[in-house]
Amino acid sequence: MDFSEKARLAERAARAAGEMLEHHGAFTVRRKSENDFVTEMDFKSESLIRETLLSACPEDEFFGEETGGASRAEGRWVVDPIDGTANFMRGQRLYTISIAYEHAGELVVGCVYCPGTDELFLAERGNGATLNGKPIHVSGVDALRNSLIHLGFGHRDPKCLERTLALFPHLIASISDVRRSGTAAYDMCSVAAGRAEAFVELGLNLYDYAAGYVILTEAGGRFSGWDDGEDGLTSGNVVATNGLLHEAVRDLLKV
Ligand code: IPD
Repeated sequence: MDFSEKARLAERAARAAGEMLEHHGAFTVRRKSENDFVTEMDFKSESLIRETLLSACPEDEFFGEETGGASRAEGRWVVDPIDGTANFMRGQRLYTISIAYEHAGELVVGCVYCPGTDELFLAERGNGATLNGKPIHVSGVDALRNSLIHLGFGHRDPKCLERTLALFPHLIASISDVRRSGTAAYDMCSVAAGRAEAFVELGLNLYDYAAGYVILTEAGGRFSGWDDGEDGLTSGNVVATNGLLHEAVRDLLKV
């Protein structure tokens, strides 16, 4: 795939962070709020990624989960240095590094790297989506009954949690099964790679899904908010599907 320099830079930064995270020693952990943790490694990863990106592109701005940054710019990197911190700090293998590039308000590059499985998802607007260099596409499953749906519980916000839990009886009765990975970026890539038909979660932040959004849509998937007319990119209430089941999944969420 003929990706641009920006895409290749995102890949280099994600791989460098992954290499560091896979070889860490002991690290400190701090509680940001109930059920929300940050480790010393989240900060180290963000710092390494920022340095790698901005030394190559000093004209760009940066926005990261741990240190914040520019809320808008002509060119901006949107970074989650460890998506799935709760998995990472317990030694679970599913955690990701998520890097997106936004140009003039449009997300144009997405890179999600999972060091534990050595899977690198890379996509660029108009150029397709890949997994370890090979093109990927969403699944052709068009029956809800046969679908696998990844979801997050939105468990840090009581309202999101309540709405998500209320879905369960109807959801479980209508589909094949559910999955909870612990990393929203990986969930979106799972849909992009045709391993599941949908991912839904309320109350996410842009850095959780910015890169996954580019990968999913370039793999032929569809992305929206939960409620009619809601923009998932700004609300953080995310419905990411293989496209074929988009409306059916959104209907399921209307309880
Ligand atoms: C979290 C993960 C998780 C999702 C949470 C996110 P973090 O990101 O993506 O799957 O359920 O809502 O906050 O905090 O590990 O970067």
